Amino acid sequence: MNFQMTFKRLIVLVLMVSVAPHMYASRKVAVIGTGYVGLVLGACLADFGNDVLCADIDTDKIKRLNNGEIPIYEPGLKEVVDRTCKQGTLSFSDDPEAVIRQSEVVFIAVGTPMSDDGKADMRYVDGVAKMIGKNLNGYKIICTKSTVPIGTGKRLRKLIKESAVGAVDFDVASNPEFLKEGSAVKDFLVPDRVVFGTDTDRPLEALYDIYRPLHAAGVPFLCTDIATAETIKYAANAFLAVKISFINEVAQLCDRTGADVKSVAKGMGLDNRIGTKFLNPGPGFGGSCFPKDTCAFVHKAKQSFMDLKIVEAALAVNDNQKRFILKKIHELMNGCIEKKKVAVLGLAFKANTDDVRYSPSLNVIEYLLEQGATVAAYDPVAMENMKKAAPQAMYCESMIEAITDADAVVVMTEWDEFCSLDLTRIKSLMKQPILFDARNIVKTAQLKELGFAFANIGNAKVE
Ligand code: UDX
Repeated sequence: MNFQMTFKRLIVLVLMVSVAPHMYASRKVAVIGTGYVGLVLGACLADFGNDVLCADIDTDKIKRLNNGEIPIYEPGLKEVVDRTCKQGTLSFSDDPEAVIRQSEVVFIAVGTPMSDDGKADMRYVDGVAKMIGKNLNGYKIICTKSTVPIGTGKRLRKLIKESAVGAVDFDVASNPEFLKEGSAVKDFLVPDRVVFGTDTDRPLEALYDIYRPLHAAGVPFLCTDIATAETIKYAANAFLAVKISFINEVAQLCDRTGADVKSVAKGMGLDNRIGTKFLNPGPGFGGSCFPKDTCAFVHKAKQSFMDLKIVEAALAVNDNQKRFILKKIHELMNGCIEKKKVAVLGLAFKANTDDVRYSPSLNVIEYLLEQGATVAAYDPVAMENMKKAAPQAMYCESMIEAITDADAVVVMTEWDEFCSLDLTRIKSLMKQPILFDARNIVKTAQLKELGFAFANIGNAKVE
């Protein structure tokens, strides 16, 4: 989508959202689960004028939400939650059963974490499905929003039927989310597409109504059967993961050959068939989606007696990339890590989020600690979460505190404040000027000029 088109859609959308509560017949929507996905979904659907009830069994979380506190860091989310609560289209409850009974469309947005064997753990989704069955008091549309294995729609239909008492009248649908943490609100309001998976036409009118401002703004809508919609989500995430692993592998080759991976990625990406996005080499992909969804996709294929060879290779390359980073840090410090102070800048799995799930920073911290280093960790928003995952590190109030007297600095996340480091000051604060840049954001000419020993990913020339 080009910029002009995006901008036009945004304007139409702002107009639609501002009149939505007054213009449209609002639908009664329940969102079960108030994590990243559920909270953004609930708030944005309420902003579209729907009557949204968000439920979670975590009473403490609901209490905080009712007090206007947002339990996650997500730019722009607080404004939407405040606005919709005030206009009365969004409310929170710790009683999912009551919320289900009051709604016509129920979105399931609870977690599907990765089990030990790599499969998606469906116990929370199944629990909600059974609860819906028990509380079916009229026609309802049950729509999965969480990423669920292909075939879940069919299974949920059976589960709901089995748990229901008395007459049942419901449809199951799939409406996968494509939100990126850190820009989830924007992604929701200006999506590339909206996908509905249904096995009958009956739920479509309500689903279109719920998303009417996006439809009116010209966002492409794609209606498929449920299994296809479920597959679209996995295939899209797997493809993006492949793109990242591909460029990470090319970066490793550039390290050996002396080519500059940044220019290679640019030269490739300017071919419209390839595109420039998701070609930034780094420490390997992390987060709550790519590692889990690619594994679940591979597992699902194995159940159908086939190997998704390319996706499996992307996962293997990603593991290798995480080890490659450790080797590079080791080499840069000439193997002298013991008793050294290393500042790790950036703990979140990427910028603009406080999420540390599968964050490559955790591997780096654990490795440095194993080698006997003192780790001085800093992140603008993810410190509390990383403290729980790696309590042995030292957590610093500021970047400057982390860097002071450090023997080496490792930049792990592409936060804005690390993209414009004052290298002269940093050098003056460090014991010795050693810097590893896992995101290719620190200016290489300046590092050279100041006499830093440094390395980045794929011999990138960063201007
Ligand atoms: C992803 C998908 O983008 C989104 O559509 C889906 O709904 C959920 O999963 P998210 O996990 O929030 O979103 O993060 P994303 O921005 O996609 O990045 C995923 C990982 O890939 C991060 O670790 C990031 O640092 C890494 N990445 C991304 C790269 O290393 N290079 C890139 O060029 C892009």
